[in-house]
Amino acid sequence: MDQATKMKPWQTEGEEKREAVREMFAGIAPTYDLANSIMSAKGHLRWRRMAVCLINLQPGESVLDLCCGTGDFLIAARELTGPTGQLIGLDFCQPMLDVAAKKVDSAIQLTLGDATELPFADRQFDAITVGWGLRNVPDLAAALAESARVLKPGGRFITVDMAQPSGPLGPISRWMYHVTVPLLGRILGQADAYAYLPKSTEKFVSREELKSVMESAGFKDVQMKSLYFGNICMHWGVKA
Ligand SMILES: C[S@@+](CC[C@H](N)C(=O)[O-])C[C@H]1O[C@@H](n2cnc3c(N)ncnc32)[C@H](O)[C@@H]1O
Repeated sequence: MDQATKMKPWQTEGEEKREAVREMFAGIAPTYDLANSIMSAKGHLRWRRMAVCLINLQPGESVLDLCCGTGDFLIAARELTGPTGQLIGLDFCQPMLDVAAKKVDSAIQLTLGDATELPFADRQFDAITVGWGLRNVPDLAAALAESARVLKPGGRFITVDMAQPSGPLGPISRWMYHVTVPLLGRILGQADAYAYLPKSTEKFVSREELKSVMESAGFKDVQMKSLYFGNICMHWGVKA
């Protein structure tokens, strides 16, 4: 398929989506952190710190950061686990891991792998974090089932991702998001990648559906919290 007829990442499903998403993140890896800071007014750093506090990470715990990208969740986790924590980041896109490798401490293991087929033992981790990752995975239920498998019983899981804003400000917020994010993408010379963000958010499951998929995968006490005018939602729970 030539460039002109190639499917955009948001038009794909299944294996085709996996490859399109991987290729897209490989292209934006060098500018990913800058774009994140501009789009969230640096809020993304605060939200990850809030997330690791919500699941009460403790010194010395073992933590897997799924879809770790450029490693910011690992940096937030390290602040709570301390130097004795065993931290592993997994991502299927080597250029994103290459950026992470320059940022995280050398004791953190960075693994190339897919969120739906984790190369880890059953009941290996005390906690799992995922930042803006699940929306990109073609098989959400498989990624959550794998997460449940590798967590210890009672292990904690948290995901932070885009969500559809609701309430009276919802339509305005949604409109802003659909205008400003693609505009930023054009400025950075990455039009398709940043058009993907609002489009993939629209296609992603609702807050309530995500809670229910987590429960079906084996998580209990699932709670959620909306942030950034409802454009971001955290879901967290405990492996039953
Ligand atoms: C939006 S970035 C988020 C990066 C990071 N978690 C953060 O908080 O900034 C999504 C990441 O998920 C990764 N990803 C998407 N699908 C994946 C999959 N099936 N398995 C592993 N990683 C995946 C991408 O390569 C990308 O690095």
